[in-house]
Amino acid sequence: MRLSVIGCGYLGAVHAAAMASIGHEVVGIDVDARKIASLSAGEAPFFEPELQELLTEGIASGRLRFTTDMAEARGAVVHFVGVGTPQQKDGYAADLTYVNAAVDGLIPYLAAGDIVAGKSTVPVGTAADLAERVTPTGATLVWNPEFLREGFAVKDTIDPDRLVAGVPAGPEGERAADLLREVYHPSVTKGTPFIVTDYATAELVKVAANAFLATKISFINAMAEIAEVTGADVTTLADAIGHDVRIGRRFLGAGIGFGGGCLPKDIRAFAARAEELGRGESVAFLREMDAINMRRRDRAVDLVVQALGGSVFKKNVTVLGAAFKPHSDDIRDSPALDVAVRLHGLGAWVTITDPQAIDNARARHPQLNYVADRDEALRGADGVIVVTEWDEYRRQLTPEHAASLVTGRVIVDGRNCLDAAAWRAAGWQYYGMGRP
Ligand code: UDX
Repeated sequence: MRLSVIGCGYLGAVHAAAMASIGHEVVGIDVDARKIASLSAGEAPFFEPELQELLTEGIASGRLRFTTDMAEARGAVVHFVGVGTPQQKDGYAADLTYVNAAVDGLIPYLAAGDIVAGKSTVPVGTAADLAERVTPTGATLVWNPEFLREGFAVKDTIDPDRLVAGVPAGPEGERAADLLREVYHPSVTKGTPFIVTDYATAELVKVAANAFLATKISFINAMAEIAEVTGADVTTLADAIGHDVRIGRRFLGAGIGFGGGCLPKDIRAFAARAEELGRGESVAFLREMDAINMRRRDRAVDLVVQALGGSVFKKNVTVLGAAFKPHSDDIRDSPALDVAVRLHGLGAWVTITDPQAIDNARARHPQLNYVADRDEALRGADGVIVVTEWDEYRRQLTPEHAASLVTGRVIVDGRNCLDAAAWRAAGWQYYGMGRP
């Protein structure tokens, strides 16, 4: 099938490349000329495992191309809209400027029978508004939320847990759902659940899933706060409650909390939208989840201060990690980088390293000292804090090797990802989050 993908960020670029890899003919469109130049040259503009290979193959096959010209969407049967919905500058609600501009820009090139498939994360009610603009062209709007995780974006796009299509009632909606089934035929054939519903439910599935995940993380971080005043160990607690299949162990990782381009902004936008709908109290708990999450960053900074004898002023602190999570170079709302910046604000000499995110981090916070090589970054440290659980720190760094590089054997494990007993045995003062 011929597809267009409007917006070539994390979502759109991966979607375009993944759709080409399953045999579709795809044009990716974005207003950012630099991004398009990079993608057209087969270069991924950000780090995402497997994306580079898919781009190279897609372009070589002739099935994948990129342009800044919206007119090239003409002739595609399904047009995916995957532009960003950032947090508004002066509030918590989602900024729909890019979604509106993408749909309005696409409308002149739509033909009767086309499908416009919204993938961006939007406040519930947006699809119904957009449908009013799309329907007069004879095209049909469907809402097809995206659940990909950064770091696993290619895998999640090609082999998702479920597919959701919000469609209008009647035969036109059924036809649109059938066309989407055709787009995703390898997954559908494999038996991936394909849920057809209305617009509002489809929009809500996405924000509800992210709200649930954020709540799960903040729940275990709240337990970490209780563990800290009782001497309990939150990691053992998480293991034990996680054995209950109704709870499950995943997303019960206590530490410095969640960040990234999705969870923080999505729960804030959801709370803001619920208030607009007169149902603020229904999700008032999300404000609490946000507050718990932000407190963990304070706690990590406090632990470093405490571990270094009450002050970090003029102490050498090495921060291991800058990305909001491993396998990503994304630093949007990164708790890792926030902790580093706060330590710098307290007068520490902060050296920060990360396998992928240094360039992005340096552009945002040039005041920190960036060192690409992990061991070089550790050399002479009075204290170390792990804030992104890359394998380079979690598995490949032994306490003995680290000890040979640092000045002071003090380590704060902001992700509870190290073997506390092994680090203590090697003479380190080890501090976990929510652990004795
Ligand atoms: C998230 C959703 O998982 C995805 O389905 C949605 O499409 C977009 O938002 P992503 O932002 O890529 O994906 O990251 P995710 O893997 O969910 O992690 C989010 C944050 O939570 C990271 O900062 C991570 O470090 C943190 N986290 C995750 C924890 O602190 N503890 C955990 O147990 C799990």
